[in-house]
Amino acid sequence: MRNESIFIESKKYIPGGVNSPVRAFKDVDILPPIIKKAKGAIVTDEEDKDYIDFVGAWGPMILGHNDDDVVKAIKETSENAIAFGAPTNLELELAKLICTTVPNVDMIRMVNSGTEATMSAVKLARGYTGKDKIIKFAGCYHGHYDGFLVEAGSGVLTENIPGSPGVPQDSIKNTLIAQFNDIESVKELFENYKDEIAGIIIEPIAGNMGVIPASQEFINSLRQLCDKEEALLIFDEVMTGFRVDYKGAQNIYNIKPDLISFAKIMGGGLPCGAFGGRREIMEYLSPVGPVYQAGTMSGNPIVMAAGLATVSKLNDNPGYYEHLEELASMLEDGVKEITKEKNIPVVINRRGPMMTIFFNDLPEVTTFKDVKKSDTKRYSRFFAHMIKGGIYISPSQFEALFINITHTKDHIERFLELVSTFEG
Ligand SMILES: Cc1ncc(COP(=O)(O)O)c(C=O)c1O
Repeated sequence: MRNESIFIESKKYIPGGVNSPVRAFKDVDILPPIIKKAKGAIVTDEEDKDYIDFVGAWGPMILGHNDDDVVKAIKETSENAIAFGAPTNLELELAKLICTTVPNVDMIRMVNSGTEATMSAVKLARGYTGKDKIIKFAGCYHGHYDGFLVEAGSGVLTENIPGSPGVPQDSIKNTLIAQFNDIESVKELFENYKDEIAGIIIEPIAGNMGVIPASQEFINSLRQLCDKEEALLIFDEVMTGFRVDYKGAQNIYNIKPDLISFAKIMGGGLPCGAFGGRREIMEYLSPVGPVYQAGTMSGNPIVMAAGLATVSKLNDNPGYYEHLEELASMLEDGVKEITKEKNIPVVINRRGPMMTIFFNDLPEVTTFKDVKKSDTKRYSRFFAHMIKGGIYISPSQFEALFINITHTKDHIERFLELVSTFEG
């Protein structure tokens, strides 16, 4: 009852009892467990029930919860440095590590969230090109910035909000919506808004309408179109960065975006984000250039220390990605086999350790339209079954699940065991 009583009390003081909507489990009509601690792949609620966690704080915890090196870095740094609002060596170290090991990032600016990262990258693209319009794709989520709350994914999709009240029409008049994996819809916008489009922002492997990878051909065409139309290509790698590959989705597609946004993993679980890219574009930012962007907490030393501990561990251990791939493919294959035997129509989309099990009877799910045909009621039943059995997955059909390096074959087997007792 403690979970329930805390949640009920929270609702008196925090809207919906949560500080970010999807945490409320509204879509699945179940009360969320109140989490009090976590270690490795296990999160524990206030009633001391353990769950094998496949949410990973919505992405950051690729090393598992409370990784010893990350905790040590946070503890040691906080002895001497909490916040200075001044340059530090720690921010240099993290910036240098990312710039020297991730392609196409000559320079990087730290911020405090993924929303800030994408919002700032878009502002920079507008300032640099002198154009106002931005193309985003239906179903992609880039944070809660007004200009992105049009046909967005993640909680906006889950809650069925077609945008959001409070977003003035004026704030979205420069946001153009194209269809994911449909190059004609992008070409049409460039034809209709000749010389007005500053750039395209895309989750190259979308995770916020469930996992939908862009096709190679689509990404190649976006690059060509941007070059032709003198627009910038912005990869939102908030979810995919350091996950699908240490070097991100851009490495998988072998493409050069002009700007890239990061968050989640790069902050080691603390509030963090960053955007980076070509030097000549990044030097358009103040104080070097005219585009103003700032933050009291940006580059906070404790956050930088946690990020550095996480990113350097990933950089030093390429074998982690093999482990992630091995377990994720074991999970994918297992779920496919079991659901086939049980005659439950399922499409699984996966890139590395991020995947979505779509309860969907289409042969494949490659567009936002396909995603919306998923059986969300069946997903809710699946979720209820899994959480009861101690597997913590996203309370929404339209999110990804994540494998982290502390997951083991036993954890995957437990997941599959529960899938095999799911009645559909
Ligand atoms: C691809 C992507 N971009 C941006 C964001 C926004 O990040 P934040 O929640 O840190 O503001 C998210 C959050 O889930 C995301 O997945």
